[in-house]
Amino acid sequence: DKLHGFLHALPKCEHHVHIEGTISPELLFSLASKNEISLPSDDPAFDSPATLLARYQNFTSLDDFLHYYFIGFSVLLGVSDFEALTYDYLSLAYSQKVYHAEIFFDPQAHISRGVPYQTVIAGMNAAKKRAAVDFPKLSVEFIPCLLRHLPVPSGHGLLTELLESGHFFDGTLVGFGMSSTELGMHPSLFKDVYEAAQSAGIVNLTAHYGEEGPADYVKDALSILGVGRIDHGRRSIEDTELIAQLAESNTMLTLCPISNVVLKGVDRMHDLPIREFLDANVRFSINSDDPAYFGGYILENYCAVQEAFGLAVDDWGKIARGAIAGSWCSPIRKEQLL
Ligand code: ADE
Ligand code: ZN
Repeated sequence: DKLHGFLHALPKCEHHVHIEGTISPELLFSLASKNEISLPSDDPAFDSPATLLARYQNFTSLDDFLHYYFIGFSVLLGVSDFEALTYDYLSLAYSQKVYHAEIFFDPQAHISRGVPYQTVIAGMNAAKKRAAVDFPKLSVEFIPCLLRHLPVPSGHGLLTELLESGHFFDGTLVGFGMSSTELGMHPSLFKDVYEAAQSAGIVNLTAHYGEEGPADYVKDALSILGVGRIDHGRRSIEDTELIAQLAESNTMLTLCPISNVVLKGVDRMHDLPIREFLDANVRFSINSDDPAYFGGYILENYCAVQEAFGLAVDDWGKIARGAIAGSWCSPIRKEQLL
């Protein structure tokens, strides 16, 4: 398509990438070896980086992916592991003209296997510090995600630990999110955690909904959890009232097109409601989610959307401006990004 040069040059904001979802099979195996971590011996997918990569082509659902995603965590141990992972992502993203990156991570899945939150954030911060020198046009923010498959008290415990760190109020953490399995995980389960986050003064709240789950989960996340953003939100299109509400409130959906195809949320890219969201003035950004697992970083997601929908330059201008407006950065930074 003629727009691919334009899409490459377009300054981008990424709002939905899990740092643990950027570990390539090669890095996974090399860290397993360095850290003396044994990978599952009863699953032939873990025979080699090549067999693992091949298995990633056959995900059947979000939960099928999450099984592999959380095994990948096991090889991340020290500060330098988190630093390398984060720096490599930032370097690749910058090469695709990402100028503002908001990065998710899952502290509970590190703490629960004995890797302290402070180790994780120290590595990520070290990468951010190097990126400030090496990638001068890039701003970087971090967002911890509560894991929905763990018991609610574990989520409360995470929030308490994060609040005690002071990191929500010293610029280390820009907001608070929630991820992992969706079906059966109604927002009301986490009402108290989000209320506590809000009471403590955390302003930027988000949650993964509408990826596999119905539009009602999105609606209820907005009203019950008080989130100002929805990660994915794809299935919002099934509720016209919700679409009007999202447009009216300028609530940003952080869409992940390749992720939705690879995890079988939709059969084909063309089945995503991109045109409908544009026409209804629903703000959205286009993101990579777990690029090492799904086979595409942000530019590949932009290009896949373009190939499926043949958008006009004006459509992309609207997407890019909406992504800046929906970013969790200062008004001054937004001006710079425009
Ligand atoms: N964690 C990492 N990627 C995710 C996704 N696509 N949905 C829910 N939780 C996730
Ligand atoms: Zn995600």
